[in-house]
Order: sequence, then C-alpha cells, then structure tokens
Amino acid sequence: MAKAKTRKKAASKKAKTSKAKKASTRARAAKAGKSTKAAPGRRAARKAVPREKLTAGPVVEKAARYFAGLVQKQIARVDRMKREEGWTDYAKLSPIIIGVCGGDGIGPMISAQAQRVLEYLLSVERATGKVSFRTIEGLTIERRAKVRKAIPDDVLAELKKCHVILKGPTTTPRKGDPWPNIESANVAMRKELDLFANVRPVKVPEHRIDWIFYRENTEDLYALGSEGLQIGKDLAIDFKVITRPGSERIIRAAFEHARTAGRTRVTVVTKANVVKTTDGLFLRTAQGIAKEYPGIECDDWYIDIMTAKLIDPKRRTQFQVLVLPNLYGDILTDEAAEFQGGVGTAGAANIGKRYAMFEAIHGSAPRMVDEGRADYADPCSMIRAGAMLLSHIGYPDKARKLEMALDICGQYEKRLVMTGRDTGATGAAFADYVMDTLADPGLEQRWREYVG
Ligand code: IPM
Ligand code: MG
Repeated sequence: MAKAKTRKKAASKKAKTSKAKKASTRARAAKAGKSTKAAPGRRAARKAVPREKLTAGPVVEKAARYFAGLVQKQIARVDRMKREEGWTDYAKLSPIIIGVCGGDGIGPMISAQAQRVLEYLLSVERATGKVSFRTIEGLTIERRAKVRKAIPDDVLAELKKCHVILKGPTTTPRKGDPWPNIESANVAMRKELDLFANVRPVKVPEHRIDWIFYRENTEDLYALGSEGLQIGKDLAIDFKVITRPGSERIIRAAFEHARTAGRTRVTVVTKANVVKTTDGLFLRTAQGIAKEYPGIECDDWYIDIMTAKLIDPKRRTQFQVLVLPNLYGDILTDEAAEFQGGVGTAGAANIGKRYAMFEAIHGSAPRMVDEGRADYADPCSMIRAGAMLLSHIGYPDKARKLEMALDICGQYEKRLVMTGRDTGATGAAFADYVMDTLADPGLEQRWREYVG
C-alpha cells in the first residue's frame, strides 16, 4: 500500500516535471517567435497540427495584433468625429435631393407608394425646383450577393449624391439562406453615411404614451459586429465600442429635441452597473450634458428594469425622450413599437449631420412577392418614414398633416383596410385614400374627433 503510494507520487512528480519542462520550452519558443512543432522528419508520422493549437503564445500574439488594428481604426474614427462639420442646412439647399431606394421584396412597391404621397405633398416645391426626387436602383440582395458587398460601390456613390434617402426594407442574409454572409445593408448604410441617430417615435394617445427614442446607431456591439474574434472552436470574442464624441452627439441630439419639442425629461438607459467601462462612459457623458439643460430633468435606468417599466401603466407615461446605446435601443424600440401595433406600424429616421435616411422598421417580406401579393403590401410604415423625412428637411406642418391622415386612414376611420392579400385594399388604393384625406380642409377636425 505504502509502496504503491510512493510509486504514484513518483510518477506524478515525473509527469509534473516533464509538463513544466514542456511549458518552459513553449514559453521560450514563443518568446523567440519560434514554433515548437516537431521538426519535419523527426516525427514524420505525426499529423501536422496547426501551430496555434500547440501553443497559446502565438495565438495570443495574433489576437493582440488584431486587437491593436481595431483600436487604431477606432482612434482614427474618434479623430474624424471630432473634426466633423455642422448640420446640413436644408433651407439653404436647392434642390434638396430625395433619393428613393426600393430595396428588396415588397420594398419597391411600398416605397413607390410613399414617393407618390410625398410628391403630392411637395408638388409646389417640385415645381419651383426646391425639391427633386431621384430613384436609386441596385440595392437588391441579388446585386449585393453578386458583388459580395453590403452596398455595391456604384449604389453608395449614388446615395452620396442625395441629401436624404427614403429606403425600402432590405434582406439581411442569415445562416441557411442561399445568399453569402454579407453585412446588413442597413447597418452598412448607417456606418457609411455616419447616420448616428436612430430616431423612433412611438405614440398611443389613448394610453398617454408619447415616447421618442434616440438610439445610437453606429457604435456599441454593432461597430465591430462583423469583426469579432473566433479563436479555435472554443472561444469567441466580440467588441463593444463606445466613444465620448459618439455619445455626446446622440445625447445632445436627444436633449436638443427635448428642448425644441418642449419636453421636460430625458431618460438615459444603460447597464452601467455591470458594463462599467463603455456604458459608464455613455452615462457619465449624459450626466455632463444634462447640466447644460437645466430646465430638463435627466434620469437614468438600467435596461433590464426599463423593459419591465415600459409595460407598467403608471410608470410608462412618465417617459418622454429616451437615449440609449445601439443594442439596447434595438431591443427596446421593438418592445415599444408593439404598443402601437407592432414594428410594421413604425417608421424610423437615421440621422447624421450630413445625410439622413428614413425607413420602415419591418422586413422585406419576400414571401408576399413569391405568392404574388406584393401589390397588397401595407405602405403605412414607409409613408410614416416619409412624414419624418418631411419634418427633417424643414416641412413640419406637412409632416403633421400626413401623420394625422395616416392615423385616420390606418387606425380610426379605416374606410379601406389592408389585409396583405386580395381580401383587402392594394397599397396604391390605400395611398390614394391617404391623399384624399390630406386634401380634406377639415382634416385636423376629423382627426381631433377620433383622438379627443
Ligand atoms: C433595426 C433592425 C436592424 C438592426 C437589423 C435588420 C440589422 O433590427 O433596424 O432595428 O439590428 O439595427
Ligand atoms: Mg431592430
């Protein structure tokens, strides 16, 4: 018994010494940048094992080099943001060029209907040359897959010739789809045109819900969403990026909106109790900016309790303007849109200092096209995005009229109903209904009768 124990001890000591020896050889080799792989011929029968698997040293060095590259690019981005010019002044532009980019699936049909409504509302401005429309082709999944780019170069060049863009939904390839794994066109456009503010209003007057979300649109887990690090089979690392200038510009946009719209509270949403460095920076930046707006109260919430409080009927009516990093904003705005009838009913503005893009939040519904139902697709959220576009380029009165007409046609009067198939109205008939309603001189009174 005692002998066996001694033998075991001796064996384990031997194993430990040989392990330690191997480790120190590896460490020396790593330091010298050499591989510890067996020399060819010495163990010729052994299957070649990639160097990364034999020693952590080179893997860590490679990861560190990769990380250094990412940090360098982000520092350059911060510098660009610090140098960035002021906001486009649409009053000084002539013509304001509105690019209409249909996208995939039902996108071209619903964008065309939204364009008809906008052209109707801007008929005088079109005639005087203050506003002009331009159709941008080629942002389709087929083209993007062919050139293997989220946005083909020629399409991007055309987009950059416009001042504002009305964009239909685009298909984002997923695993299992017939398409190559290209980045979402939305995410790419937000980054390429630096559309840092994703503004999403949600209104349900009968429940006294009137929120506007300022979701940061270019940073956080999205900034390097396609540039994470997969190390072997077992380790995956993504990167969350928050910058001070990036936070400042979205938080300031939220406070400025509160000031001009006469709102009295801005709510900051983070998870700064756990995600201390990045969310901590966002929160501290907000608290600093809040001091410049003494008439506006600034409160802060963590994202988990915020998702709960949105459904608390007593608490939720207190929220007005909410500002939050990208991913929390993505999730919370889907929850919020559900109160007004789902993501399909909401429009979104993606605003940068130079460009702005307006879109529906829903997807491209390829099934409707496959089943021959594309003409019956509901253009409401695209038309709502159009209302946000009007307001952004300096026509808030036209935007308000359009919102009232949409409320009347889509939510209250419902003389035509869209069912997504031939049991209901087509998108074109619905757009006509919206334009007829807009032409009614008693529009506001008609709207007030419903809203109270
Ligand atoms: C949105 C969408 C996008 C996002 C997708 C399509 C990449 O969910 O606009 O909210 O995550 O931002
Ligand atoms: Mg989303």
